[in-house]
Amino acid sequence: MEFFLDTADVDEIREIAAWGILDGVTTNPSLIKKSGRDFKQVVAEIASICSGPISAEVTALDTEGMIEQALVLKDELPDNVIIKIPCTPEGLAATKALTDKGIKTNVTLIFSSSQALMAAKAGATYVSPFIGRIDDTGHEGMNLIAEIMTTWDNYPEITTKVLAASIRHPTHVLQCIQLGAHTATMPAKIFRQLMKHPLTDKGIDGFMKDWADVEAAGNA
Ligand code: E4P
Repeated sequence: MEFFLDTADVDEIREIAAWGILDGVTTNPSLIKKSGRDFKQVVAEIASICSGPISAEVTALDTEGMIEQALVLKDELPDNVIIKIPCTPEGLAATKALTDKGIKTNVTLIFSSSQALMAAKAGATYVSPFIGRIDDTGHEGMNLIAEIMTTWDNYPEITTKVLAASIRHPTHVLQCIQLGAHTATMPAKIFRQLMKHPLTDKGIDGFMKDWADVEAAGNA
């Protein structure tokens, strides 16, 4: 399974990239706003920190505008930048056109398995179902991942990766792993939570104390 960071904060990206297991980064207009930085500059810096796919989102809502913005991003930014496109009919047409040009895409804001299938038919490299935002409406977001994975099982010719997004807690990631989602994008806090275990910390404390005694005894 691929692990992506969902942030435009380069300090967090550097921190997690240093662990050696970061596969990519997703951004969106809200995360760019939060960074307080210039869109293209921050995406270029992210792409220099992580060599995996870096999603940069178009903001035009018409097909031609999306394609135009995507071509500028592909022209001006590093090769590992991929184009994030909203799941609308216009976005579908843009995804198809960009796929035909060999440009990788991440179709975002997916809330149903029919949207995911249509984005896959348009050639999306990734589809991003938003789990947490479904949970926020009082429904079970994970059911969408399950439904999409069943759809994918029924149509083995689909090569689009399912990128679970809007992840709010480590259990979301563990459930995605069980369902076979290809990728999960999450904030740095969840990377840290996934690695943390009190028994690991306690075990290290015990080993360090005993090792200090070994050294004190001159046996190191
Ligand atoms: C995914 O690519 C999105 O940027 C992200 O996961 C949205 O998460 P949110 O619902 O926490 O804003």
